[in-house]
Amino acid sequence: MTAFSELETEKMRDRVAQQLARSRARSTALTDAVDEHDLVRQHSKLMSPLVWDFAHIGNQEELWLVRDVGGREPVREDIDNMYDAFQHPRADRPALPLLSPVETRSYVREVRDKVMDVLASTPLEGRKLVENAFAFGMIVQHEQQHNETMLATHQLRTGDPVLHAPLPPAPPGPVINREILVPAGPFTMGTSVEPWALDNERPAHQVHVDAFVIDKYPVTNAMYLEFVTSGGYDQQQWWSEEGWAYRQKANLAAPRFWVRDGDRWLRNGFGAVEPLVLDEPVVHVCFYEAEAFAAWAGKRLPTEAEWEKAARFDPDTGRSRRYPWGDEDPGPEHANLGQAHLRPARIGAYPHGESAFGVAQMIGDVWEWTSSDFHAYPGFVAFPYREYSEVFFGPDYKMLRGGSFGADAAACRGTFRNWDYPIRRQIFSGFRLARDPRPDELR
Ligand SMILES: [Fe+2]
Repeated sequence: MTAFSELETEKMRDRVAQQLARSRARSTALTDAVDEHDLVRQHSKLMSPLVWDFAHIGNQEELWLVRDVGGREPVREDIDNMYDAFQHPRADRPALPLLSPVETRSYVREVRDKVMDVLASTPLEGRKLVENAFAFGMIVQHEQQHNETMLATHQLRTGDPVLHAPLPPAPPGPVINREILVPAGPFTMGTSVEPWALDNERPAHQVHVDAFVIDKYPVTNAMYLEFVTSGGYDQQQWWSEEGWAYRQKANLAAPRFWVRDGDRWLRNGFGAVEPLVLDEPVVHVCFYEAEAFAAWAGKRLPTEAEWEKAARFDPDTGRSRRYPWGDEDPGPEHANLGQAHLRPARIGAYPHGESAFGVAQMIGDVWEWTSSDFHAYPGFVAFPYREYSEVFFGPDYKMLRGGSFGADAAACRGTFRNWDYPIRRQIFSGFRLARDPRPDELR
């Protein structure tokens, strides 16, 4: 090994250690914010008790990093089944003999101590699982993804607010929401070079995308309110068949966490009820609501390929960027990520985060529903296990792109793909509109 690559390996280890520490700080903050009772309680049958998420984070870390990468003895083999997400649906998890909050905290600490030892001593080469510290990166992303889920649990929790964060930045000047034409042509979708990209983001491949028009900003509360007040939820013509069936069954009337107050609407954000901020992206809508709104507005949702092209393609160089703004990692000037602010930012707040086409706030703020199902890219290879992505491929899930204010930069990239059931509303999901161009726009 050359001195140069030793230096690179040390830098990689430092980066991993920093990211692990950052993720753990967030898990700790989210679990320390509530008392023991709130940690073991199920706040919604859609969610696990917070203490299950925390121990599951530790258990996955043990399985992959302590046992597999490190080849060490198990810490707690006896609890593997209890914290296997495939074995127990969320609704059943509170009935399991879960580790108590005290046991959970000591378990995750013990695992982490061993992981730091493994990190210091394992060569980060020779095995695909450890190349570029992939397994460590996967575990960092896993913890951050659960942190977003835990934040969603906090949103479902009742009681006085316990989470606090500063407001996101305000738009620096007047904001005009406009449509942007993306011309027809091929672009590179997905990645083969991003070291911590997951199997479903790979490999990079050329996709031809017909010309389309996309909104500069996500749909705002003001726009969505018009749909609500004009009776959109009672007009079947805007809804797909499945969407209308779900609207009826679940009695949908407004986004989740909107609260009716006479003839106006308020929203509940982590226990604080306040008037709607009209120029904030709408959040907590399901795919069916997004689809119905788009039909009502005379538009449609973008496909996943359209979304990624608008976000990453640079027409001047012909290449796809890592992020809308370029190849640099996200900073606070680019995007509302990482639970730094506990709400989406008003549209226009991140001019430095715009894509080459000028499409704004694609990363951060709200996950954006697309019209696409979850499919493998051509050349897909399941790694490191089928349960990561492959078992979810098919028409049951819709793709969400871009990450929310609750997602961390480590688990969010221009290529990052998220998927969920079309009925999900407790996630931090919004959308933006697209449409086919008119003939006069293509001349
Ligand atoms: Fe998990």
